[in-house]
Amino acid sequence: MNINIEKQTNGIELIKIENASSKIVFTNFGARIVSWKIDDNNIVLGNEVEADEFYPNNPFYFGATVGRFGGRIENGTFKLNGETYQLEQNDVPHHLHGGKNGLSDKLFDYEIEEEAHRVRVIFRSQLTEEMDYYPGDIDLKVIFTYDETSTWTIEYEAIATKDTLFNPMNHVYFNLNSDNKVVDNHVLSSDKIQMFPLGDNNLPVLQPIDLVEVFGQTSINLGELFEAKDERIASQVTKVQGLDHPFEVDKGTFTLSNDILTLHVQTDTPQVVIFTLNDTTGWKSPMNIYKAHSGVTIETQSMPNDINLLGEHAHSIIKAKQPFYAKTSYRIENKMS
Ligand code: GAL
Repeated sequence: MNINIEKQTNGIELIKIENASSKIVFTNFGARIVSWKIDDNNIVLGNEVEADEFYPNNPFYFGATVGRFGGRIENGTFKLNGETYQLEQNDVPHHLHGGKNGLSDKLFDYEIEEEAHRVRVIFRSQLTEEMDYYPGDIDLKVIFTYDETSTWTIEYEAIATKDTLFNPMNHVYFNLNSDNKVVDNHVLSSDKIQMFPLGDNNLPVLQPIDLVEVFGQTSINLGELFEAKDERIASQVTKVQGLDHPFEVDKGTFTLSNDILTLHVQTDTPQVVIFTLNDTTGWKSPMNIYKAHSGVTIETQSMPNDINLLGEHAHSIIKAKQPFYAKTSYRIENKMS
C-alpha cells in the first residue's frame, strides 16, 4: 500500500493511503476522514484541496472525531457520583459534540505504522476538565486502520483521571452516488432497525419505532422513509426535514447501499445516529456547495443524553483509570465485482 503526506498551512496535514482499488485521505485536524475514493467516486463529504481553509470553518463536523460526548446533553447539565456538572450550552439550551474545545477542532499528534496488508494511523490527544468542564482529564488515541480489503477501522482507546463521560464518535457523511444526487436513494439494511423518536426538546425518547415491523422488510430506502404514511415516522421526518435520530441495529451490523456500492458497517457501540444534513443554508461561505441530503452520517455512539435518561446505567460513563475501548469499521464493496 502507498502512503503520502501533504503538509498544508496551520499545521494541517493530509495522510493519503492507497490500495489497489481505492484511496483514503485523513487529516490530523480533528482526526478526520477527508476523502475516500473508489474508482474516482468519492463516497464521503469533504475537501482535500483546500482542507486547511475548509475544515476550521466547516460547521457540519465533516468527517471529524467528535467528543468527549458525541450527542446532545440536555441543558448541558448532568449528575455523576452525586455532583452536578454544567457544560457549555453550545446548541442552546443543550450541549452538543463536546463543546467548542472538543476533539473535532484539535490538531492531533500522529504516527503511522505500516504493516504488510494494512496501514495504521495512531492519533493522540488529551482532554482536560479546565477545557471542557467535564470531570477528569482523558488521554486518548484514535486509531484509523486502512487495509487491502478497503476497510476503514476506527478504534478509540482512552484512560481518564476521574470517573467521567466518554462517548466519542466519527461524524463521517457518506454519499455513495457517483453523480451529484442526494442520498434519498440509499438503502439501510439490518435484521433489526429501531428508530428513536425525538421529543419536543430534540432529545431522544426511549420508545423506539420498529421500522422492520412498520415496513415489513429489513431493507429501508431513505426516500421511502421520508415519504412514510405511518404518523409516528412522518411527524419525525417533518420535524427535522429528514433524519437526525438514534437507531439500534442488529448486533451493531448493517449496510448502507445504492445500486452500485455496499458499505458494510460493524460497531460495538450500542446506538448509531443517522443524520441527513437537513439544512445547509446556515453556512455562508463560497465553500458551501452542499444541499440538503447531500450526505448521510453514520455516527456510531451511545444514546444522546444517556446520562440524563439512564443515570448511573448510562453507557457513556467511564471509570477512573480503567481503559476505554470502542471499535467501528466501514468496508466498501462494489456490487458489480
Ligand atoms: C448531528 C446532530 C445534528 C447537527 C449535526 C452537525 O450529529 O445530531 O443535529 O447538529 O450533527 O451539523
